[in-house]
This record gives sequence, structure tokens and C-alpha cells, in this order.
Amino acid sequence: MKSTYRCSSNIALVKYWGKKTGGIQLPANPSISFTLRDLYTETTVSVEGNNTTGKPAFDFFFEGQPKPSFIPKLSDFFDRVEREYSILKAFRLHIHSSNNFPHGTGIASSASGFGALSCCLAALEHQHTGKVLESEQISRTARLGSGSACRSMYEEPAIWGIHPEIEGSNDEFAIPLPYPMHSAFHEMMDAVLIIDAGEKSVSSTVGHGLLKGNPFAAARYGEATLHLTEIIQALKTGNMSDFIRIVEQEALQLHAMMMLSNPYFILMRPATLSVIEAVWAFRRDTGISLMFTLDAGANVHLLFPKAQYQQVKNFIESQLLEYCQNKQYFCSAIGAAPVRIE
Ligand code: PMV
Repeated sequence: MKSTYRCSSNIALVKYWGKKTGGIQLPANPSISFTLRDLYTETTVSVEGNNTTGKPAFDFFFEGQPKPSFIPKLSDFFDRVEREYSILKAFRLHIHSSNNFPHGTGIASSASGFGALSCCLAALEHQHTGKVLESEQISRTARLGSGSACRSMYEEPAIWGIHPEIEGSNDEFAIPLPYPMHSAFHEMMDAVLIIDAGEKSVSSTVGHGLLKGNPFAAARYGEATLHLTEIIQALKTGNMSDFIRIVEQEALQLHAMMMLSNPYFILMRPATLSVIEAVWAFRRDTGISLMFTLDAGANVHLLFPKAQYQQVKNFIESQLLEYCQNKQYFCSAIGAAPVRIE
């Protein structure tokens, strides 16, 4: 038995930053993201021989090479999902994974990686037992590997975390946006500018943990909940200026929380700020709906409608490449569900 899946990365518009006490990887606030169609992981899982160890047994290759540093995170993941996947008890797994974007660019691959792996597990479980796992169950599995991975399951924007006004929203798995989206948002793009390709000085696991006991955390969770209400309204009505305000406010609040932590830290670099200022000037001068967002690192994601691709590309290549490490940036369309590859 063998299964191969492609799963896209995602970028949060309203950010998940902080976990609930109790449970495993439950978000302290709801979030919403776009999947990045052209930035993905492809994973193949095959079963090799019977597993006689009594616990999940696997080997893991990343871009063709054994990757011992990934083993502890994968072991924790398999321990968490073992009860739901009988294949883990029955067989030894052989996992091969690769990204279509270069490693060491600061583009996180944990979401696409755990997303693709979870899709493979579900497909193998189906082959082995006939049990059909729906997207929501696969999303739940992915969450147990990396929280934000649960949002990589849908072509539509994905919502994860309980929100009082969104039916079906919950902390266990992500759901697709349950409303039609205005045509203004149907063809968006993301250009990811590689500002710093190095390892992050503070991991997101540590960052999430620092919200515990942080006096500003409760206010931040309230803001995220409000921003989700507002951004959904903007997505429904096509209100681009509200959308831009919320997306940029969320990016800055995420990084503000890092500065308000104890110990405090800063993941933006001087070039991150230079890009933000240049984006604001470009938007003011041209009226083009170009906005930035950030994840937990120095890289800048630029979101814009595809219709403006040429102007934005010219702007990036003439004015922003000087801020990018090795002049690197990657462009992706928005929206992709996982794809099974034969
Ligand atoms: O899934 P994690 O634990 O890597 O956390 C992701 C956190 C952010 O990328 C900063 C925000 C988000 O919602 O994706």
C-alpha cells in the first residue's frame, strides 16, 4: 500500500497565536487563512512490513535524505493519532517528503507537511479498513501535528477555532468559509519576500507559550475574534479597504505580542520595516490594493488581486528585491485543496 498527496501551505489573515490551557493544540482564538496553491509539500507514505514494536514505527526522508531532526516531532504526532489509525499499529511506515520551495527560506513547511502526511494516513487507512475519513477529520489529524496545518485542507479560506457567530466553527478542526465570497477576492495572489532565510531565533511553540500569563493576551484574543467577524463581512461584501486594514493590523498585532512577551523578542528585521513602508507608499501613490502580512518570522507576504500582477511584479522587482536575501521571492495563487497524486 502506498499513497502520495500534495498539500499547500497557508497564510493566516487573522492569526492564531496562543493556545488554550488543556487539550492538545487548541487555539486560544479563532483564525482564518488562505491556502497558497503554488507553495506545497508532496509526501508519499508506503507501508513496509509488519509493525511488531507495539508503537508507531517509521522512517522519514526529506528531499531524499534521512532527516533525524524531524523524528521527535513526527513521533509525538504519531503517538497522538495512533488510536484513530489502525495502520500505525499494523505496519511500519516509510515516509518521503519534499517541498516545491527551497528549504531554508524561512517559508514554514510544517502546515503543508503535516497536511500532506495526514492526507496520506487517511488514504492508507481507507485502503486498509475501508473507513472513509472526511476533510474535517483529516484537518483534525493535521492539527495534532502542527496547529495551523489544520487550515490547509480547503480551497476556500479556512476558519479554525470557536467563533460565537460562525456556525460549525470549532477548536478541533478547520472548516471552509461557510459563505459565498465576493468576486473581489476570487483571484488573489501572495508574493512571499524572503527577508531572512535563517532559522528563527524563537520557535512558534515557544512564542505560543509566552502568551500564558501575558497581561495583554486577553485583549489580543478579543481583537482576533472581532477581526474575524469584520474580515468575514469584508469577504462577503467585497470591502477591500476593510480587508486591508484588518490583514495589516493582524500582522502588526502578532509581532506586537512578541514584543510584549517576557522574555521579549523581535522577529522582524530592518528590511521587514523597509518593505512595509514601501508597500504603504506604493498603495498611496497607485491606489492598488497591495497589502502585507507576516507570519512568525521576518519574511513579508504581499497579498494583491491577480489583475494587478504586472504592476506589483514591476514594483517588487524594481524596489523591493534589494531587501530580499539573495533577491529571492516566490509568487503563489490563492486557494487549493490537497491533491492526490497517482
Ligand atoms: O501552527 P504553528 O504552531 O506553527 O503556529 C502558527 C502561527 C502563525 O503562523 C504565526 C499564525 C497562524 O495562524 O498561522
